[in-house]
Amino acid sequence: MADQAFVTLATNDSYAKGAMVLGRSLRSHKTSRKLAVLIGPHVSEPFRAVLDKIFDEVRLVDVLDSEDTAHLTMMERPDLGVTLTKLHCWTLTHYSKCVFMDADTMVLTNVDELFDREELSAAPDPGWPDCFNSGVFVFRPSNETYGKLLRYCSEHGSFDGGDQGVLNGFFSNWATADISKHLPFLYNLSSIAIYSYLPAFKQYGANAKVVHFLGKMKPWSYTYDTRAKQVKGDTQEAATHPGYLLRWWEIFSTAVVPMLAEQHGDRHFHSGCVVGELEVGMSQLQASDPEPPALSSEERKQRWEQGQADYMGMDSFENIQKKLDTFLK
Ligand code: UDP
Ligand code: GLC
Ligand code: MN
Repeated sequence: MADQAFVTLATNDSYAKGAMVLGRSLRSHKTSRKLAVLIGPHVSEPFRAVLDKIFDEVRLVDVLDSEDTAHLTMMERPDLGVTLTKLHCWTLTHYSKCVFMDADTMVLTNVDELFDREELSAAPDPGWPDCFNSGVFVFRPSNETYGKLLRYCSEHGSFDGGDQGVLNGFFSNWATADISKHLPFLYNLSSIAIYSYLPAFKQYGANAKVVHFLGKMKPWSYTYDTRAKQVKGDTQEAATHPGYLLRWWEIFSTAVVPMLAEQHGDRHFHSGCVVGELEVGMSQLQASDPEPPALSSEERKQRWEQGQADYMGMDSFENIQKKLDTFLK
């Protein structure tokens, strides 16, 4: 089984969080296969270090190499950037067979039986079931196929601007040729399907094996309150992932955050009771502008709850740490 692997992709730290949870979910369900992740140059050092601990192989895909055919193709079609990165999975030729899984997927059980399938096996897309969804698929790494895919890409482009368009164009007989290449929908269950056909979800949903958080809102876009064990700002979307979002956050807060905290050299990071919020705070720290000063403590609390904490000032990491220390004493 050493020559078979689950493969995912993360071009930045946000998707790396997803990859970490996916990797942990595969491990906790005792997969016998290797775990590989393709990363882009924008994944930061601490995140790479954690990926290294969870995955057997972390492969940097350097899309900036001008000798790279992928790069040249991409120059003509810059909209296909991320897509081309996913296609790189075909270059993992030290494996005989792989299962690609989007970084926004999570397994609910052992799914090693997927390796019994052949290229290209995938589940129907919930929006257009004659297309397969490229969030979960079985493939055979091959430089020849990789080359053909790139050629297809530069000649025909992608009808959806992403890899799913390219792959459905390339493996164009998927819908009709061989039913064994149709994975049961339970291997790629998306929220879209849950609310568009709720009775079917009620009937079959308990057998789901892989959840796919397809769409704009990803699990890491929410805030989690570890004390209440609740996803905050519970929107309709959160409500339509019954329990799945919580399960994602549980893995993230209990297994991944401690590893990230270790990388950040902060022993208090994961010992507090608001660890999920702290982690989200960390990621927002990089993006947020300094807030205007002089807010009442009630206003500060409100802002904090809306995800607009004053990270550069009153709510600086140092201050949060001091506060946590007082709780812990
Ligand atoms: N991806 C990535 N960086 C990006 C966008 C996408 O690494 O900026 C990868 C990641 O593995 C992700 C996959 O490409 O799961 C497909 O994108 P996404 O899941 O966002 O698409 P959706 O399933 O929502 O259509
Ligand atoms: C889809 C798939 C995703 C793919 C994207 C772009 O919605 O879920 O895996 O990357 O389309 O083609
Ligand atoms: Mn996805």
